[in-house]
Amino acid sequence: MTYRRTFLKQLGTVAGVSAFGRLLDVQEAFAAQLPVSALDESNSSSYALLRERYMLDSEITYFNHGSIGTIPRLVHEAHVGYLRVCESNPWLYMWGGEWEEPRARVREKAAATFGCDPADMCITHNTTEGFSTVANGLALGPGDEVVFSSLNHSGAGVCWYHNAPLKGFTVKEFEFPVLDVRDMSVDDVLNLYDQNISSSTRVLVLPHIDNVVGLVHPVKEIAQLARDKGVEIVAVDGAQSVGMLELNVSDLGVDLYCASPHKWLQSPKGLGLMYMRRELQDAVHPMWVTWGQARWRDSIRKFEDYGTRNLPELITLGDAIDFQLSLGTKAKVDRYRHLWEVFRAAALESDHVIWRSPDTWPMSASLFAVEVRDKVSTEVSQSMYQDHGFVFRPFRTQGLNTLRISPNVYNTEDEIARFFELTARL
Ligand SMILES: Cc1ncc(COP(=O)(O)O)c(C=O)c1O
Repeated sequence: MTYRRTFLKQLGTVAGVSAFGRLLDVQEAFAAQLPVSALDESNSSSYALLRERYMLDSEITYFNHGSIGTIPRLVHEAHVGYLRVCESNPWLYMWGGEWEEPRARVREKAAATFGCDPADMCITHNTTEGFSTVANGLALGPGDEVVFSSLNHSGAGVCWYHNAPLKGFTVKEFEFPVLDVRDMSVDDVLNLYDQNISSSTRVLVLPHIDNVVGLVHPVKEIAQLARDKGVEIVAVDGAQSVGMLELNVSDLGVDLYCASPHKWLQSPKGLGLMYMRRELQDAVHPMWVTWGQARWRDSIRKFEDYGTRNLPELITLGDAIDFQLSLGTKAKVDRYRHLWEVFRAAALESDHVIWRSPDTWPMSASLFAVEVRDKVSTEVSQSMYQDHGFVFRPFRTQGLNTLRISPNVYNTEDEIARFFELTARL
């Protein structure tokens, strides 16, 4: 590996040479095992085989990737490998600069996943942190308005409510007609945003894919509409979209895009990603600061430097991204679509399951809502888990009585069929 040799040559210390070599040993052992298995549309067992590459309990049918993903065994092993290397000389790895270069490469991979410049990519802890950074650090005041819909997740919403009384700006949360989402078109969604953006709106917040019914918002069109109406900052919650769809934030024309790779990128828990447009970086004060801060004044890393952090975990993010890439972005999206189609078709045929999500794939994702007729969703969820090991999330908010199903590529048609069989007997 040329990079390895060049880097090792540049390193001055013997300790440094052997230590960096050990990190590369873990990375190379990981890379040698990719691709894990090809997703093959014509061979349904390829999906079940892929599941073997995870550590999910065999008694569990995991339909809850929208809440939290599960890490592939191979990525987990790489993580353990980095932890071991780190513990062999913690000072060296945490503070000795050894993992600066690997960290830069993780940023590059994350930026490629988002379709942005690495200089605009910050490695945070989760989506909530990204939104909190901006809500805390942006100069907003009396007369300014922050707008979002009731489909906005609290991780992208509470920070604005928290700061509004401190800074004097207002928050307008408008009702999203979630019960009618099946009948909505892209234009209906656009009109809704159009009606709720006012001349005082400085910040518009929206999910790319919401976590309740899985509507894929027309982000590019909404961002353009908002700009035309004078909105300064379009801030997008990508917690459910990164790893779910092919992304190009530069093309979307937004200012902020935050995500939680522990969901659909299957990274270790407690990692986040934040794209921030250059102009916004200059306008936002960091939420937390420490001794190294002056170094990062003109860099997005000013939002990332708050003292000691879990570098082995951060380095593992690069492997999680590589793992996902090895499955193939298109193959993954095709599989998500297939599972959505199978589930929806079964719901439309069934007497007891009602489909509650958008009806067309371009507005949909591998995260959707159904209702079991005449049953309370929280009770259905509890009994399906306790009696049959099904994991999904019930919703009893906004007039909904739904189960949110969020399968990943290795979930199978048999599992879906069993869901329908079992819920018919409730
Ligand atoms: C749409 C959406 N936004 C934000 C969040 C918050 O994510 P985190 O706790 O990783 O910040 C979630 C979590 O489920 C979510 O679904």
